[in-house]
Amino acid sequence: MKLLEAGILGVGSALPPKIITNFDLENIIDTSDEWIRTRTGISERRVVEEGVYTSDLATQAALSAIDAAGTCAEEIDLIIVATVTPDTFMPSTACFVQAKLGAKNAMAFDMSAGCTGFVYALSVGSAYVRMGTCKRVLVIGAEVLSKFLDWQDRTTCVLFGDGAGAVVLGPVEQPGFLNFTLGADGSMADLLVIPGGGSRLPASAQTIADRQHYIKMCGNETFKFAVRVMGEVTQQALEAAGCSKDDLDFLVPHQANLRIIESARKRFNLPEDRVVINIDRYGNMSSASIPVALDEAITSGRLQRGDLVALVGFGAGLTWGAAIVRY
Ligand code: UT7
Repeated sequence: MKLLEAGILGVGSALPPKIITNFDLENIIDTSDEWIRTRTGISERRVVEEGVYTSDLATQAALSAIDAAGTCAEEIDLIIVATVTPDTFMPSTACFVQAKLGAKNAMAFDMSAGCTGFVYALSVGSAYVRMGTCKRVLVIGAEVLSKFLDWQDRTTCVLFGDGAGAVVLGPVEQPGFLNFTLGADGSMADLLVIPGGGSRLPASAQTIADRQHYIKMCGNETFKFAVRVMGEVTQQALEAAGCSKDDLDFLVPHQANLRIIESARKRFNLPEDRVVINIDRYGNMSSASIPVALDEAITSGRLQRGDLVALVGFGAGLTWGAAIVRY
């Protein structure tokens, strides 16, 4: 079977308007703007208002990606939503998005791969296009993390924010995806976890009292893993794509901590303006961080057609992944 080439036809994003600054957090927990900025690079984050769901942000991002791709909802034949904060465990958020878009010809499912979710979903979406099974695939990274944060736990609640980013994929002449390098190590699953609410620890009065339905993270171990894996997976993906670090126009990394991003930037000897950063304004948006950063770089005119881009993620699972993309 001859494979087609797949590429990115359009990109979009959606951020809720409500901003919570580090100074706002100083009023509710024992923290400081200084600690958050110097340890993470975050100054503020966005959070949804009551009644706004992950599927709402996902739909808004999808509409702007569909517009940028010059297509319409009826033409979409697959919707994949990468998320760790779905509207409901059942059905998938992708089905809510399908209904909100009126994308009645699309099949729809979610992917859960922590903060690497968007890169994983991109690899699946591009495979559907390459096999000729689908012509227009919507890949969305969308999160409402604010609903899964323990606002009494200063080690996690200062880190995350809400948002969504989306791309439309389709067949193209020149290869758009040069390599995907993906991995997982489930032996480190408990480093970053929402313990309650699943089959392992079903919801009960006790799980609620014990605050088990919120994100728990061993920050330090996750940090060490992230620094190591981000450099390694980017290097492996570049080599597998037949490229060197000098060919790279942009690094679009997952936005978990500015210090993690800086270590990767230095390893690849990239000037600051070649690394896309938005953690200062949005915090860590898990699956949404990479597509939102990609959209901002394109919309601002920094990232242009033909540029070679590395999208690199890591997170809960633990999982990791890099995509080498010719935009
Ligand atoms: O996206 C998925 C993947 N996620 C990541 O990759 C996150 C990786 N981890 C990190 O980014 C960092 O580990 C954190 C930003 C989470 C934490 O930074 P750290 O430099 O590793 O700090 P730490 O956890 O070692 O804590 C240092 C101190 C502790 O106090 P003591 O025990 O030394 O007295 C914490 O209690 O900082 C304290 N601390 C805070 N202080 C003020 C922790 N959180 C806060 C806070 N405000 N919000």
